[in-house]
Amino acid sequence: MKILPLAAELNASLEKEAPAVLEMLSDLGRRLYFPKGIISQSAEAKAKAHRFNATIGIATEKGGPMHLASLQRYFQLEPKDLYPYAPTGGRQDLRDAWREKQLRENPRMRGKALGLPIVTAALTHGLGLASELFVNPGDRVLLADKLWGNYRLTFEVRQGGVIETFPLFDGPRFHRAAFAAKLEELAAREKKAIVLLNFPNNPTGFTPSRADADAIAQAVLAAAEKGLRQVVLCDDAYFGLFYDEECLPESIFGYLAGLHPNVLAVKLDGATKEEFAWGFRVGFITFGAAGKGSLDAVHAALEKKTIGAIRGGISSSPHPSQTVVLKALRSPTFEAERAEKKEVLRARAARVHEVLGKKEYEEAWTPYPFNSGYFMCVRLKGVDAEKLRVHLLERYQTGVIATDPADIRIAFSCLEVEQIEEVFDTMYRAWRELAGR
Ligand SMILES: Cc1ncc(COP(=O)(O)O)c(C=O)c1O
Repeated sequence: MKILPLAAELNASLEKEAPAVLEMLSDLGRRLYFPKGIISQSAEAKAKAHRFNATIGIATEKGGPMHLASLQRYFQLEPKDLYPYAPTGGRQDLRDAWREKQLRENPRMRGKALGLPIVTAALTHGLGLASELFVNPGDRVLLADKLWGNYRLTFEVRQGGVIETFPLFDGPRFHRAAFAAKLEELAAREKKAIVLLNFPNNPTGFTPSRADADAIAQAVLAAAEKGLRQVVLCDDAYFGLFYDEECLPESIFGYLAGLHPNVLAVKLDGATKEEFAWGFRVGFITFGAAGKGSLDAVHAALEKKTIGAIRGGISSSPHPSQTVVLKALRSPTFEAERAEKKEVLRARAARVHEVLGKKEYEEAWTPYPFNSGYFMCVRLKGVDAEKLRVHLLERYQTGVIATDPADIRIAFSCLEVEQIEEVFDTMYRAWRELAGR
């Protein structure tokens, strides 16, 4: 398919500054560019057309966006912060504020050349963009064997990637050896791989330790040195919800950005889970390349391709929720509110650990390690997870998720502390009925 001149310019810039990153792009990624069309002409007009501005496709009245009282009555916000299209890559002030938050919370990101976060319609959209930019049919996507099922749609069904997995756990720990061995194997047979790291993990609620993070970065570096080009996606959906001293208290993205020219780190994060704003659809995609060339030019080319993909897909993310998230980031009580909710979730996780200590449960399941996030998982003994799920629902009106033929995921994020014991007791009763005990 044809590569248009603006895309060719971006590709030439990547070829000059970071040839390995150009090699990581999918065919679609190579074709993408940001057009000098309505959006960029309007941006120019916004800066200079102080007399009359008849460019963009909104309607105005008395110097502001036209709007209806029936909508405005639900908002205290000014119409200018609600109704106009947000820029394709998101509000600049929100992007700057999110960058500040990332640096505040992730010491390892400081002092590195990074792209500015680009606003997405939350993490799924960011993952979809990454998939469009980097995944060609047949490309390998490496994931832990405990994974969020939606990755199959995003990477396999949409783009034709091929998911390969490594065992997440080695007893109670992150399986460093299996991760390193899998990357070594990929380096021996592939030129490129997508590596997706998701901590805190869905479905298990597991976050590795600082030493694990070092080992992960070492394994990625070793494969890069063998010539494997890696796009490492860091899905930080549950960022910050760490309940144990052992947990790596920041994103692994900071360990991977700037690591090696054959490694492009990509951070996906957002307000969805960490700010408890699931339906707002505010997320971000941030690039961290490496190499001797101008990384600013590399990030600029990747940004143009990304906003080209946004423009051609959803045009732009919703404006009202971007404004609200920005206001929250600037609120003096924002951090205290987050900390309070985190404590509520931490207390629930602690209660789950306590309840799981019951001796009788040992015949029914083994819990997987968990120390963070919204969930925990158990591995059932001798009973099919889907059968148990349906039985729990029909006999006990209790909903859990079967993530695997033997695994059940329990979202303690939506159970009150005092409900937790009953949920596990009910699950145990249901297990006994199915196991014939
Ligand atoms: C690991 C993980 N990533 C991403 C998402 C999606 O987040 P969003 O709602 O922001 O698209 C989820 C939601 O369940 C998730 O568990």
